[in-house]
Amino acid sequence: MNINTQKIALITGVTGQDGSYLVELLLEKGYMVHGIKRRASSFNTQRLDHLYVDQHESQVNFKLHYGDLTDSTNLIRIIQETKPDEIYNLGAMSHVKVSFDSPEYVANVDGIGTLRILEAIRILGLEKKTRIYQASTSELYGGLPENKNKYGFYDEKSPFYPRSPYAVAKIYGFWITKNYREAYNIFACNGILFNHESPRRGETFVTRKITMGVSQIALGLQNQLYLGNLDAQRDWGHAKDYVKAMWLILQQENPDDYVIATGKTIKVRDFVIMAFNYVGFDIKFVGHGVNEVGILEKINLDKFEKSTGVDFRNIEHVSEVGDVLLKIDPKYFRPTEVDILIGDPTKSKTDLGWEPSYDINDLVVDMMSSDIELFKKNNFSLFK
Ligand code: NAP
Ligand code: GDD
Repeated sequence: MNINTQKIALITGVTGQDGSYLVELLLEKGYMVHGIKRRASSFNTQRLDHLYVDQHESQVNFKLHYGDLTDSTNLIRIIQETKPDEIYNLGAMSHVKVSFDSPEYVANVDGIGTLRILEAIRILGLEKKTRIYQASTSELYGGLPENKNKYGFYDEKSPFYPRSPYAVAKIYGFWITKNYREAYNIFACNGILFNHESPRRGETFVTRKITMGVSQIALGLQNQLYLGNLDAQRDWGHAKDYVKAMWLILQQENPDDYVIATGKTIKVRDFVIMAFNYVGFDIKFVGHGVNEVGILEKINLDKFEKSTGVDFRNIEHVSEVGDVLLKIDPKYFRPTEVDILIGDPTKSKTDLGWEPSYDINDLVVDMMSSDIELFKKNNFSLFK
């Protein structure tokens, strides 16, 4: 790669789920990639370790810099040093439930953090050079039924109604990005991304919590899984597909905002059923509200052994038909919930040529197979 033509990207939130897939994509495309990571008391780069090369090697296309979205001077210095063609602002406290516990911090990182990046571009006179992708979110819609379009989806024109400190902070990020685009002609875009998951998803988001819990139950390492609202509906895609959309958004002729979604929605309880189904367990839901439970109704041994690679008779603390495998814990309920999200991907398909390659079944299979392997590896002596 000629270093004079090599594109330079800077990613905040590089250590997160999306950050790691985006680094892979940009390296494949020949970019020089810089990432901003926070200092932590232990290593927090597990999602990136396979991409990292010793900084003393001659050809280094991926560098990490210590930084934080709450620290303007540090952001200005990193942007000044790296002079990126593209900035992907993925850094955020991204957990909706946790945002009710730390609302001021979330406002600072997810809201004002976006402003700090945009101001750094202005201060450094990079308005014409640097394109900015802002990680906006379907949480902005708040799930209000009356705000869906006439086809029953949320699209780029649907009104916002944020229902958490996270969404309120992100709405500031959305509007300040749009404002800097209009006021200063900066190529700044919002990707309004609906939920996207993967084997690298943080362990406390519901899909990963389910695939980890179900894998451990199947392997006899855990008895039960505790969840909150099973009736919430989400439009779930795969993070690998969604980072491609981020890149496409910054390659267009003009800056704009795009919904990125699959256009399909299912309930949390459906995701639970699909995850158990992967290991051959049929689950029946009985009872209502906080007393609802998920009971093991049937086991398909063939399916179990094919999907886990483990002989059912070798599982020490085996689940039996009639066992309660899932319970509700109200501590996972949110003070204000987003009941349903379903996005309209028409504009991203038409303008960006973007379409998801994973459907919900592919996603469940990818996450379940990865977590089964993870727990088999971590408990090698039991499953050798
Ligand atoms: P994630 O896995 O939670 O990653 C968040 C990243 O932000 C991590 O690298 C984290 O660093 C970093 N970060 C947190 N606080 C920071 C701070 N003060 N300064 C600098 N970096 C900080 O999230 P994700 O799923 O990859 O999502 C990426 C972005 O898209 C986020 O902005 C999220 O809000 C948004 N989004 C996500 C989805 C989704 O379904 N995944 C949908 C719509 C929008 P540590 O590793 O040190 O914690
Ligand atoms: N986390 C979690 N844990 N959620 C649960 C649980 C549980 O035990 N039980 C039920 N849920 C429900 C939540 O109440 C919510 O309705 C739904 O599962 C999804 O929760 P999360 O996986 O935590 O994701 P989210 O939709 O709140 O937020 C994610 O998607 C947004 C895009 O719509 C995050 O990635 C946000 O950063 C992102 O902006």
